[in-house]
Amino acid sequence: AEEREALRERIRELLRSRDAVLVAHYYTDAELQRLADETGGCVADSLEMARFGAEHPASTLAVAGVRFMGETAKILTPDKRVIMPDLEATCSLDVGCPADAFAAFCDQHPDRTVVVYANTSAAVKARADWVVTSSIAVDVVAYLHQRGEKILWAPDKYLGDYVRRQTGADMLLWDGSCIVHEEFRGLELADLRREHPGAKVLVHPESPAAVVEQADVVGSTSQLIRAVTEMEAETFIVATDAGIFHKMHEAAPGKTLIEAPTAGRSATCRSCAHCPWMAMNGLRSLASALEAGEPQVTVDPDVAAGARRSLNRMLDFAA
Ligand code: 13P
Ligand code: SF4
Repeated sequence: AEEREALRERIRELLRSRDAVLVAHYYTDAELQRLADETGGCVADSLEMARFGAEHPASTLAVAGVRFMGETAKILTPDKRVIMPDLEATCSLDVGCPADAFAAFCDQHPDRTVVVYANTSAAVKARADWVVTSSIAVDVVAYLHQRGEKILWAPDKYLGDYVRRQTGADMLLWDGSCIVHEEFRGLELADLRREHPGAKVLVHPESPAAVVEQADVVGSTSQLIRAVTEMEAETFIVATDAGIFHKMHEAAPGKTLIEAPTAGRSATCRSCAHCPWMAMNGLRSLASALEAGEPQVTVDPDVAAGARRSLNRMLDFAA
């Protein structure tokens, strides 16, 4: 414990001496989230992370999350140094949507407006007309649908399917998924709800339709945390990465939070929903990244220019 406090103190000092700010996602370790909060950084969903990084005056952004989050920060503020504890922290949605194959798919459907989820590489964003995060996907697609546009959507088929049902838009879906959220199970969730009849069900839209269907609230990580504080209920069943419980407990200390069941559950753990790439962010690797000023996130300037255009559309739309 003493050693960890020494490590935290070193990180606080390094953040000051390197003119750096820590931007962390809700799925990272609680220790990192606490450090981000107490040092004037932020803990946020992916849209808010992008906005915070773009607006903060620090010359270095230390991004605790997965690579697309670091890339988004670099694309929006190319003059800043963007460092991450581990550049190998990827995302199954990003991995499942290689830029070449995606470009070929787009070329086959030139009549469609290309909307991609933020969980993609810079090259995929550069090929898109729009980038969206889970918090505004429905709003953006509803707007495009209203203008009569047909959509090509990538990469998350579950989020795409949810957005299609919400908006009625004509959407062609890429076949990608999040390995964490696709493990949530509808039948087991129905059983759990019978055990807790008063509980409200909160679901991230990367989950399968059988789970989303049972939700009282479907939303981004920030939206789900807000729901816990704002809804009258005492008990919530939560279908998203377990990292979110740190903030949920902090935001609503008296409430009972239950993990939604997954296919991989065991005797000791009902859900075990935790992103292996988010888990690559630790105090030690953060300290050494701050110390060395690397690994740095780099994005080819031409690719970044294309990606910035579609990212800025989202930011302008959200503003
Ligand atoms: P949010 O935008 O809701 O934070 O989601 C990002 C993500 O990777 C979810 O798995
Ligand atoms: Fe990607 Fe899923 Fe991990 Fe989020 S939780 S970063 S969508 S693999």
